[in-house]
Amino acid sequence: MQASNGIPQQVTVVSVHEEVPGVKTFTVAYDDGSSFSYRAGQFITLVFNHTGTEERRSYSISSLPDNPKRLSFTVKRVANGICSRWLTDIVKVGDKLFTTGISGFFCIPDSPDEYKQVIFFGAGIGITPMIPMIQWLLKNRPDAFVTLIYSNRTQPETAFYEQLTLLLRQYPGRLSIEFLYSTSFNLLRARLNKSLTTTLLNEYLRVPASETLFYVCGPTNYMRMVTYALTEYGIDKSRIKKEIFNKDNVGFKASKPDDTDTHTVTISVGNRVFTFATTYPDTILSAAKKNGLSMPYSCETGLCGSCAAICTSGKMWHAHNEVLTDSDLREGRILTCTATPIDGDVSIVI
Ligand SMILES: Cc1cc2nc3c(=O)[nH]c(=O)nc-3n(C[C@H](O)[C@H](O)[C@H](O)COP(=O)(O)OP(=O)(O)OC[C@H]3O[C@@H](n4cnc5c(N)ncnc54)[C@H](O)[C@@H]3O)c2cc1C
Ligand code: FES
Repeated sequence: MQASNGIPQQVTVVSVHEEVPGVKTFTVAYDDGSSFSYRAGQFITLVFNHTGTEERRSYSISSLPDNPKRLSFTVKRVANGICSRWLTDIVKVGDKLFTTGISGFFCIPDSPDEYKQVIFFGAGIGITPMIPMIQWLLKNRPDAFVTLIYSNRTQPETAFYEQLTLLLRQYPGRLSIEFLYSTSFNLLRARLNKSLTTTLLNEYLRVPASETLFYVCGPTNYMRMVTYALTEYGIDKSRIKKEIFNKDNVGFKASKPDDTDTHTVTISVGNRVFTFATTYPDTILSAAKKNGLSMPYSCETGLCGSCAAICTSGKMWHAHNEVLTDSDLREGRILTCTATPIDGDVSIVI
């Protein structure tokens, strides 16, 4: 996984392609020919200044890591969105963009022993991180079955439709796709609901659910429903991986840490070490910013993972975490945007 020191790097837009109305894929390259290093499923964080105030937004990478000189991401225009409108309405080939790097945990595990089938539940623009993961699995994991349940309003609004139908022809027997359209006259196969999710699981599960991984990405209510349906079906939550695009409706803990005293934070970034004090409600990230440190981050709400770091000593309390698993936390991973030190001083490596 590519680490980032939070300092924006310049890239140039080398192509812009309209997938479907309102959705464009941008391909970027470094001017000096440097390579991008990423895994299928990760995202790039862009830094915008077109409004006069710095804004950061993350976009899932829609290209395969095979060509490291080029990276593509796909953006859906949000009607009143500050950055997606600027990208889709204004940005053209030759324009410069700024990125603080690549991160994300919504990836296929390294060990092929962990799964024999992968089922993706994507809705709308939630398809973007799945496109490279599906291609990567088909190319690199010949023993794994791949299934996509893909919801859209209509077929002409379905991004990557041609690419996916081509893959279906290339990998018969290994890839299955259920295209669902909420405007369909066949109400039994239209908007995804709990009962249809159960029907589709019965239809598409080729191996025991305990050998299957599930990836979910789409609007908040869609993700809630699919997660609920999967858990009701008996799928262990450790097998359900989610990527949340929209920070609206993200619930924060109402509680606060038992310890709200001031503690010292020591952060190692590359070969430089910084030390500062922090007190709740400041997080590691907000305290670092107050101390003038440049750190990697994007959503600042514990849902993207671009601020992930390792806590090498001391204890942390997270106000919110949608990204790190229990095993990540046991290994000392933290989200600096929502983590506060408790019970003493802490050391962190970025
Ligand atoms: C890990 C991660 C990966 C992402 N990958 C992609 C991607 O591949 N493609 C993509 O298009 N977006 C992606 N996003 C969302 C993206 O980062 C922006 O949030 C989105 O482009 C809206 O930004 P904006 O500045 O245009 O809107 P803002 O100015 O931030 O928001 C404007 C209004 O739109 C609402 N809104 C914000 N985001 C969304 C959304 N996603 N859908 C509907 N309404 C929204 C807000 O609540 C607000 O009311 C991703 C987000 C994360 C955290
Ligand atoms: S900045 Fe997104 S999880 Fe911390």
